Amino acid sequence: MHDDIAEVLISTEMLQARVAELGACITEHYRDAAEQTTDGKHEGVTLITILSGSIVFLSDLIRHLPIRMNLGLITVSSYPGPAITSQGTRVEDVSLPDVRNRRVLIVDDILDTGGTLRAVQKLLGEAGAADVRTVVLLRKQSKAPADVPVEYVGFDVDDHFVVGYGLDYDGHYRNLPFIGTLKPSVLGEAK
Ligand code: IMP
Ligand code: MG
Repeated sequence: MHDDIAEVLISTEMLQARVAELGACITEHYRDAAEQTTDGKHEGVTLITILSGSIVFLSDLIRHLPIRMNLGLITVSSYPGPAITSQGTRVEDVSLPDVRNRRVLIVDDILDTGGTLRAVQKLLGEAGAADVRTVVLLRKQSKAPADVPVEYVGFDVDDHFVVGYGLDYDGHYRNLPFIGTLKPSVLGEAK
């Protein structure tokens, strides 16, 4: 599997250090939810994860968030099968706690065209969420649209197709512990 990688763009060590920094920034914003009270005064935060690419990032990030939280899951597909360009956003499954008047943090792997986050931000707004913020591990800055607000960004990357740390190509490579690019021979005739 590692033989298919052309270049490691972000090492395991860089990922771990940056995720810890993001955790500290996010905890600072939600500091009133930092104490794990159960007296009802601190409602905490709902983290909404966009499956499947964000699972590795989420699982590392939440261990740097000592705040009261619950989780919701949304499955969105935009790169079906061996596609390496967005084929349009489709919300496939929604498993959400009640987010009305809740503070919500959307956790996503990568901001590319913004179609995914635009759809999820709209859906959460319509569900009555308050203070919707977004964290992405990666942002393809050349494409990121101005109308999709993202408060926290791990790394800006060039417009390459990347895999690893949750990100896949045709369902594979999510388990690589770094972010890298694939050899052109692996991408073949992908679009
Ligand atoms: P957007 O809707 O175009 O912003 O695309 C966002 C989604 O497409 C991400 O959450 C990823 O799941 C997927 N995606 C975008 N770029 C890449 C990439 O370079 N590698 C793997 N998946 C990607
Ligand atoms: Mg995704």
